[in-house]
Amino acid sequence: EEASQYFSQELLTWYRRQRRDLPWRLSRDPYRIWVSEIMLQQTRVDTVIPYYNRFMDKFPTAAALAEAPEEEVLKCWEGLGYYSRARNLQAGAREVVLKYGGMVPDDKSAVAGLKGVGPYTSGAIMSIAFNRPEPAVDGNVMRVLSRYFCLEDDIAKPATRVSIEKLAVSLIPDGAAGDFNQALMELGALVCTPKSPGCLTCPVMEHCKGRLEGREGELPIKTKA
Ligand code: ADE
Repeated sequence: EEASQYFSQELLTWYRRQRRDLPWRLSRDPYRIWVSEIMLQQTRVDTVIPYYNRFMDKFPTAAALAEAPEEEVLKCWEGLGYYSRARNLQAGAREVVLKYGGMVPDDKSAVAGLKGVGPYTSGAIMSIAFNRPEPAVDGNVMRVLSRYFCLEDDIAKPATRVSIEKLAVSLIPDGAAGDFNQALMELGALVCTPKSPGCLTCPVMEHCKGRLEGREGELPIKTKA
């Protein structure tokens, strides 16, 4: 419990001091958050940035994306790969226009029902855009929490994701869901990396159970698919 409160507080403070000014962090427009999270699903931040900026110039709203010819959307996505992401995003934008008047709704099940939006992405949108206390657990977050709490469950198992999502929700500080979830992602991307984690610069090293037990390098446990 003490280790949990410490984790949430120190991580949030660390993030607020040194967050990167990424283009999707300049606004809380849920459409913009949505596009960024779809692009970031399989692509690195540095690669995404120029694509994201061009996409937003060309399709600044869900309505603009909904109306565009599919070939123009795909052209804008060219080089990012995983083109079904672009097709699903446009289908989702059309759904937002038809069902919700062009505004991404502040409604978890509506957002989770959009084409191409899985549990991670809906949690990211609900927390970052609407500050709702929803988990946004991807592989990076499972790695961070497995190490910090020294969890030995196999992260390839769906049940493990479910239990880590419950843990992640319990860690969200009151009123700070968006920043906290982004802080977790940021820690996983910049510090608690898969190989040779940067424990010496980690804001939560002091109570990291994996580190204290010398096992950070073995965690998370993941069986091959
Ligand atoms: N990876 C996934 N979502 C992200 C976000 N909002 N900021 C930085 N990296 C991310």
